[in-house]
Amino acid sequence: MSSCSPSITTMIRMDHTHVMAVFHRYHAETSWWRKRAIVELACTALEIHAQLEEEIFYPALSEVMAGDERLAKSKPEHDKMREDIAKLRSMGPEDAAYDARFMQLMREVMHHVADEETVLLPTAERALGSQLSALGVRMTKRRMQLVARNRPTAIAANTAGTFPLASLAAISLGALAIAHCLRPAPARRIRRYE
Ligand SMILES: [Fe+2]
Ligand SMILES: [Fe+2]
Repeated sequence: MSSCSPSITTMIRMDHTHVMAVFHRYHAETSWWRKRAIVELACTALEIHAQLEEEIFYPALSEVMAGDERLAKSKPEHDKMREDIAKLRSMGPEDAAYDARFMQLMREVMHHVADEETVLLPTAERALGSQLSALGVRMTKRRMQLVARNRPTAIAANTAGTFPLASLAAISLGALAIAHCLRPAPARRIRRYE
């Protein structure tokens, strides 16, 4: 897998793109059961993503951005996001404040993602160049463990068949890239000597 695994920064961008796509499925007029499924899918994807960054990406970045306040505020922002997720999970879509809470979470995540994509990821690409692929491999392995642990939650959220299975798989992110890597190589052409 190492020769094909995407770099850690590519995987992080793919995670961001996926969670934004999930966010945009949510509308005030969406049915309550669909809202609940969207929220659970987004929250689980965010939790896995944040844990991967904290275990693998931020420590690697701290070697080259020690003392940088933009890196220092990343973990507290994840903690705030986890608090917001816990509040959302303690409510139901029938609650009058549910929409506003989810929109608030969306705004905070979008702000955090913008900081990562404009500062942290470009810095990592300049400073960690040759390590990015190896870090991507570590992230893929850890992601598989976390996804396996979270799969029952994601499936429960999908009891109403809200999302196609591909979307549940993408909770893992980098999932598409991983699938690409695992795809069998095209059959070699056999040269005929006649
Ligand atoms: Fe983050
Ligand atoms: Fe991120």
